[in-house]
Amino acid sequence: MALLFKSSWDRADWWRAELLKRIPDLDFRVWPEVGDEAAIDYALVWKPKPGDLARYRNLKAVFSLGAGVDHLFADPTLPKVPICRLVDRALTRGMAEHVLTHVLRFHRNLPGYERQQRAFEWKGLPIKLPEERTVGVMGLGELGGAAAATLADFGFGVRGWSRTPKTIDGVESYAGGGALDAFLSKCEILVCLLPLTRATEGILNRNLFAKLPRAACLINAARGGHLLEEDLIPALDTGQLGGAALDVFRVEPLPRGHPYWTHPRILITPHVASVTDPRSSADLVADNIRRIDAGEAPLYAVDPAKGY
Ligand code: NAP
Ligand code: GLV
Repeated sequence: MALLFKSSWDRADWWRAELLKRIPDLDFRVWPEVGDEAAIDYALVWKPKPGDLARYRNLKAVFSLGAGVDHLFADPTLPKVPICRLVDRALTRGMAEHVLTHVLRFHRNLPGYERQQRAFEWKGLPIKLPEERTVGVMGLGELGGAAAATLADFGFGVRGWSRTPKTIDGVESYAGGGALDAFLSKCEILVCLLPLTRATEGILNRNLFAKLPRAACLINAARGGHLLEEDLIPALDTGQLGGAALDVFRVEPLPRGHPYWTHPRILITPHVASVTDPRSSADLVADNIRRIDAGEAPLYAVDPAKGY
């Protein structure tokens, strides 16, 4: 069986080594050395160009090299085969770590001390206990659910928003569009871990910011498309938002002249909140190949109608 690997970000040699450990007879082909296109059974990809995958007419499944599949559904010619996302405990732990890091940074007012240091100012800023701080997580799936549970374990007041209600220890669940305003009303730190779909595109915008407590902080580790870019700096400059930690952007890498680079209340990381590691993620891909070959349904196939 043949698998085509295509990514300009992930390491083909690492993936080859990890998948061959699990399926020694796998014919692992790396784009552009595709060979006979009709022989490709599986595609393991990150951000293929629209139209790329339609050429492999005997594909049995497409595997995303990440948790998100928005990069695949952006292609109107995407083959009608199972589209599987990555769910992996290392990816989940990495995201929980990223979110906890940034929540603690805002909670302990490190941005304020960084500003004071640049002004040679020695002054203690108000401190709250974690349980006095409300953190809201948008998206309570594999990643958001784990991040919310980690924050709750740490003692924060945690609430989460999802399409359907959730039961997570220490996390107050809000579900559906009708509950969004009530959810937002107390979030002093807001974390976005939604998938990017037609329903969530641009959801982080001035109307949403206006529903947060004044000086709330934003952590976006989901997708750049969730944020209406032009609404962020005015919200920061008027003080409606106190700070933003952004890992994802509409255009990546973030263009050199983009105003986010130099804004004093924005911290940028280059889409590294949680990075796929083939040492653990190859388990699911190999498992899904075996399942499909045995006529079973693959794990974590997404619903094309929902887009996640
Ligand atoms: P997931 O398991 O599919 O969870 C998605 C969550 O969002 C679910 O709780 C879902 O609600 C909720 N949701 C979806 N649409 C909604 C809507 N319209 N209104 C309210 N809630 C909605 O996804 P995941 O594995 O946690 O990953 C989330 C995203 O993280 C990925 O799609 C990707 O974009 C991003 N990500 C970023 C990085 C990075 O390094 N920056 C790394 C990995 C992933 P239900 O549970 O009710 O369906
Ligand atoms: C990364 O952004 C992912 O979707 O895994």
